[in-house]
Amino acid sequence: MSTTLITGASGGIGYELARLFARDHHNLVLVARSADKLAQVANELQPRGVTVKTIALDLASPPAPKFLFDQLQREGIAVDILINNAGFGAFGEFAQMPEEEILGQISLNITALTELTHLFLPPMISRRNGRIMNVASTAGFQPGPLMAVYYATKAYVISFSEAIANELRDSGVTVTCFCPGATHTGFAKRAGTEKSRLFKQLGAMNAEKVALDGYRAVMEGRTLAISGAHNWLVAQSTRFAPRRMVTAVSRWIADKAE
Ligand SMILES: NC(=O)c1ccc[n+]([C@@H]2O[C@H](COP(=O)([O-])OP(=O)(O)OC[C@H]3O[C@@H](n4cnc5c(N)ncnc54)[C@H](OP(=O)(O)O)[C@@H]3O)[C@@H](O)[C@H]2O)c1
Repeated sequence: MSTTLITGASGGIGYELARLFARDHHNLVLVARSADKLAQVANELQPRGVTVKTIALDLASPPAPKFLFDQLQREGIAVDILINNAGFGAFGEFAQMPEEEILGQISLNITALTELTHLFLPPMISRRNGRIMNVASTAGFQPGPLMAVYYATKAYVISFSEAIANELRDSGVTVTCFCPGATHTGFAKRAGTEKSRLFKQLGAMNAEKVALDGYRAVMEGRTLAISGAHNWLVAQSTRFAPRRMVTAVSRWIADKAE
């Protein structure tokens, strides 16, 4: 049985992904900060005949990715599929944003994701077998006034993932960058975007459907996958429209609905 490691599996898209991998008989390593929520997920999924190991960790703290890797090495757990899903956004003008929110987004969305990829990739390459899925966002396709740092972190994830997918094309390891659009999870509340036009007027997808799109994308080894036809269209349209217009529309969508 193969083992899948999912970060941010205590809720939202990560939790739904965990359910899908358990359904298809993958042993799981689930990581998030909330030990109690992870224990609940483990209790739900273990009766399906898979082993579920939970590790409560703040991945935004610098030693966490290496600590996680070392712990699994010591326990002899080889990770066949790595899902870098944990991430968060924060709403507000950059100049007024507290430093810990700025650095926290960069630490979790970029640094932890990159370090985990760098740590878990070499054993996959040696086995000539492995899959990595990095959860970016449709936010990564354009600049995001009022969520400047979040959008920029997701642009990094897209660029990084596509580049290493190319480097690894003959290695037996696939890298998938998965881009959800607005999705009903705990994300909007944490980000302070519940009242944005994006969530209030344009509509969000449900996490179960989004996770299924991500699951299919990683199992098919697709390099870039966008969840939802409307999100795909919006992402494509940013490639041809003038940059200034794209940025202005992005701000309008991110802003609070009247
Ligand atoms: N929802 C959306 O609209 C949307 C759209 C596009 C992309 N995404 C991306 O999808 C991914 C999943 O988001 P979601 O919507 O499922 O959000 P969510 O419901 O807020 O879930 C986030 C998960 O990450 C964990 N997490 C947060 N901070 C962490 C930290 N410092 N260390 C370890 N784990 C941490 C959370 O658990 P704990 O709180 O227990 O740590 C939770 O399990 C993120 O990368 C997000 O950027 C979301």
